[in-house]
Amino acid sequence: MNDKAQWISADKEHVWHPFTQVSYAPENIIIERGEGACFIDVDGNKYIDGISSWWVNLHGHCNPYIISAVTKQLQQLEHSIFAAFTHKPGIALATRLLEHLPAFDKVFFSDNGSTSVEVALKMTFQYWSNKGTPKSKVIAFKEAYHGDTFGGMSVAARNAFNKPFEPLLFDVISIDTPHKDNIDALLQEMEQHLQNEDISCFIFEPLVLGASGMLMYAPEHLQLLIDLCRKYNCLTIADEVMTGFGRTGKFFATDYLNDKPDIICMSKGITGGFFPLGATACKQFIFDAFISNDKMKTFFHGHSYTGNPTICAAAIASLDIMERTETMLQIKDLSAWQAAFAQELTGYDNIENVRHTGTILAFDIKTGESTGYLNNAAEPLAEFFIKRNIILRPLGNVLYFIPPYCITKTEAEQVYAAIRALLKG
Ligand SMILES: Cc1ncc(COP(=O)(O)O)c(C=O)c1O
Repeated sequence: MNDKAQWISADKEHVWHPFTQVSYAPENIIIERGEGACFIDVDGNKYIDGISSWWVNLHGHCNPYIISAVTKQLQQLEHSIFAAFTHKPGIALATRLLEHLPAFDKVFFSDNGSTSVEVALKMTFQYWSNKGTPKSKVIAFKEAYHGDTFGGMSVAARNAFNKPFEPLLFDVISIDTPHKDNIDALLQEMEQHLQNEDISCFIFEPLVLGASGMLMYAPEHLQLLIDLCRKYNCLTIADEVMTGFGRTGKFFATDYLNDKPDIICMSKGITGGFFPLGATACKQFIFDAFISNDKMKTFFHGHSYTGNPTICAAAIASLDIMERTETMLQIKDLSAWQAAFAQELTGYDNIENVRHTGTILAFDIKTGESTGYLNNAAEPLAEFFIKRNIILRPLGNVLYFIPPYCITKTEAEQVYAAIRALLKG
């Protein structure tokens, strides 16, 4: 196939794309290559990747340092089974991750964000079962998103993402996201649940609930909820799939807390945006509950590609870059630009709930329709920005900007200028 039209036609004929309603979706843009915070399409048009390709890219597309680490690893060992065998990239990555997670002791690898959550949930359910006190209830935020697998959907909001599957999802106790006006009532409600029910775990996205519309809340409120769980012996799971690896300004969002949760889920930025990888870290006491001569206490979970060494090599290279002073400065600068622009945005009366946490900026566009993923503003908004060579894909009427950390000031300014143009009409 030589010409663009043939590729487009084959794409339409053979490929089923995610989160896409083909009846009204515009023609897909064929990306040819990536470079820093940008993509270049087959016609040579350059686009700023303002959403880090679904929040995964940290250090730029085709980052040469990660490419070189991956290439080297590929020449040595592309993949191997990870049970009864191990390898240096897997060991090194777990060790390096734990250096950033001093409260944790073990890392379990899987394939993506959803599976990192499945692993966490299964760990907690089996932890209690192995201890001889099975518990199956979960507390979760009403507006959460934890992935597209059945466990992930069950512990998430009941909304457009999972409506057709609702009868198949397991019940959870849903609580509101905390804010200053509801925190006292929320703590009371939480305490009642913890007193009355056998709760296995509380799962949450720390500080930012991403897919539900970049809803943000304070670390102090999360700490109070975790403290209550601790009091009642309820395990806590931080889903840092989106917030991990610098997004909120610190290495992990849970670094804003004094007391860490028991389990942490990681994915997305873990490989710098190169490959899918899930990792679930837990504390030693959880791991210990699985050690027994009774075979039934084994964690019978694994994926064919668990701990793939090539992917681990990319993740180690991404960690090398994360640990450079220069990257921390990029995160600091980007966070400061986002904060300043958020301040400026408060002057517009056609938007509301302007918010930012670290490198993440979001606000709601007033449309007369209710705020949410199905709000009809999404498609025209995305089109407005694509015409200006910027990739922003709003969650309904929630517009957010989460670029790779390597975005230049000029590129960020281009995005801010386009947002100004949109809001000024
Ligand atoms: C907080 C959170 N958890 C889990 C997931 C699922 O990750 P994945 O799409 O890699 O399965 C996402 C994806 O957006 C997420 O934001």
